[in-house]
Amino acid sequence: MHSKPLSLRLPSETRSWLQRFSRGRATLSSMAARLLEEARRRTLFPGISFANTTSGRRAIIEGSQTLVATVWQYQQSSNADAIALTDHFGWSLQQSIAAISYANSFPDEIAADAADLTCDSLSSHSSNPSTPAVSDPNPTPSVRISHPFSSLIEAAKDARLHAHAPYSRFKVGAALLGKGWKLFKGCNVENLSYGLTICAERNAIFQALAAGVSQFEAIAIVADTRHPISPCGACRQVMAEFGNFRILSATLSGEVFESTVDTLLPRSHTGILDLD
Ligand code: THU
Repeated sequence: MHSKPLSLRLPSETRSWLQRFSRGRATLSSMAARLLEEARRRTLFPGISFANTTSGRRAIIEGSQTLVATVWQYQQSSNADAIALTDHFGWSLQQSIAAISYANSFPDEIAADAADLTCDSLSSHSSNPSTPAVSDPNPTPSVRISHPFSSLIEAAKDARLHAHAPYSRFKVGAALLGKGWKLFKGCNVENLSYGLTICAERNAIFQALAAGVSQFEAIAIVADTRHPISPCGACRQVMAEFGNFRILSATLSGEVFESTVDTLLPRSHTGILDLD
């Protein structure tokens, strides 16, 4: 990477900390540069952190001891999509997306980390050979994930804020996860000519189609109700057009009902598709 010099005045406490932190590993200035670059990347990829491992500083998933390279390796070998990755590691969708986006942005670094992992696993017989020991002196506190799809639900909450519902005053938000890690949001948009109203779910689906994405993994729907709402019949029929995927309906207070298109619309209309 191209670099230019910069001289810094640091508070003496920071300087002594840096000295302790980099001892035996790097010069003060190279460690300061490294930590600044890490700070930049953490801003770019929320959910990613960095830790000292037995083989150097590595990108990890924040709140865990899992290396981004481990996630990337698993994703490459299993071809797991966002949902499968989230299920496999038991964390949030946001973390899966952060890991894969980071790996895609720094492919050489992650490929090198992954190659080290392979060497480590060949030369050691530890119980978890694919992960070098992480020894961060300032570990990030563990993030408690309440629901594996909490970030999709958060995206739906965000979309709900844009609902145009002056007639019913019932605001709904949807967030749709398309294949290839693509996220689309939708809100209900009502009209003075009531029948022209479109629901949040269909709005999100149509946005995805307009962007060329027609395979979906999950949709989150949020409304401010006592219990999670159910998509209307029209939305179910539109969903069924694009196969079976997960439906997560949530209230603002956090109650979640999980379902699928096939469950909510059994024996769906196939019509002309069934003609000989
Ligand atoms: N609505 C949705 O956007 N999604 C649903 O699943 C149920 C209903 C909207 C349509 C209308 O603007 C308002 O909620 C009241 O029915």
